[in-house]
Amino acid sequence: MEQVPLSGPYLGEREEELVLEVLRSGRLSLGPTIDRFEQLLAERVGAPYAAAVSSGTAGLHLLCIAAGIGPGDEVITSPYSFAATANCFLYEGGVPVFADIDRRTLNLDPAAVEAAVGPRTKAIVAVDIYGYPCELGELRAIADRHGLALIDDSCEALGAEYDGAALGSQGAPAVFAFYPNKQITTGEGGMVTTHSEEEWRLVRSLRNQGRGDSGGWLEHVRLGFNYRLSDIAAALGIGQIERLDEILALRRTAAARYDELLAGIEGVELPCPDDERHRRSWFVYIVLLPDNAARERAIAAFERDGIGYNRYLPSIHLQPYMRERYGFREGLCPVSEDVSSRSLALPFFTGIEPRAQERVAEVLAGALG
Ligand SMILES: Cc1ncc(COP(=O)(O)O)c(C=O)c1O
Repeated sequence: MEQVPLSGPYLGEREEELVLEVLRSGRLSLGPTIDRFEQLLAERVGAPYAAAVSSGTAGLHLLCIAAGIGPGDEVITSPYSFAATANCFLYEGGVPVFADIDRRTLNLDPAAVEAAVGPRTKAIVAVDIYGYPCELGELRAIADRHGLALIDDSCEALGAEYDGAALGSQGAPAVFAFYPNKQITTGEGGMVTTHSEEEWRLVRSLRNQGRGDSGGWLEHVRLGFNYRLSDIAAALGIGQIERLDEILALRRTAAARYDELLAGIEGVELPCPDDERHRRSWFVYIVLLPDNAARERAIAAFERDGIGYNRYLPSIHLQPYMRERYGFREGLCPVSEDVSSRSLALPFFTGIEPRAQERVAEVLAGALG
């Protein structure tokens, strides 16, 4: 029986060629390939400035520093995300305030965000979960009204559009990520995009051990990090960006195929569709099942059949370290907790075969029937 993996990268000869070129050039770090990758991605998402970093988490961390988040500052964020969305400001002593999500989009509910703003609120870290754009317009209005920074965790959303324009072009600084399950990969890596030259210069300094623009290799003007991306990784990224349109189209086709195959199965709720304001970039394909027991039945069937899956995503505030540190308990964000208890990621990657998707649908139908 053939295994169907949960995810996987989509690479070709062009990527090999580009990586080999860098290896042969001898410029493995801080070379021209990084600049080229940054330029290509900035153009693609419509941001004036981009800075490559070693991971999405690193990029988010640097944007939190740039936003001036410090000890005791409250940061409003989504409980329904990957842990890094909240960890990025914990590193600076920020305090998480989780606002519940919208049941349809699974992104932050702006009304819940507004209600969570208090005298110590410093920033909002929003996320475009599963590649579906968050309510950037409403969130920006809240941030402006209260003088807060807004950071968009677009790690899962390269290629998504809000109000007809790419994420990254919207004004708020954003981060994209390139782990191998993402739309494009550099092995590990991320990209910060910003509309502020000052912020861009700061991020470039922070990722490079706090070195200044004009100082020497051994002059450190601030406390920095080694969050650099290598030129080898950037070469891979260039090859991937070159075929981003192809990748996004293949993923869209695969998602539409799941929509069709799963539409008739009772008890399966499909990902929310695009509308005039939101155009998803397909990152994963997540279904909601009636309850946790149904999800466990599906998982048992997937395991018997060699089909990849994951319980995306647990609510961050209920992770053991969050409970211990802040005393968060069940009931804080009921919508997020409900979705966490019954959402399931199906195998989904660029170029997944129709036959594999049909098998996933058959096994899921069998498990729920
Ligand atoms: C929503 C979200 N934020 C942040 C990250 C962190 O990215 P990375 O794994 O590159 O550090 C991820 C990646 O998995 C993510 O999905």
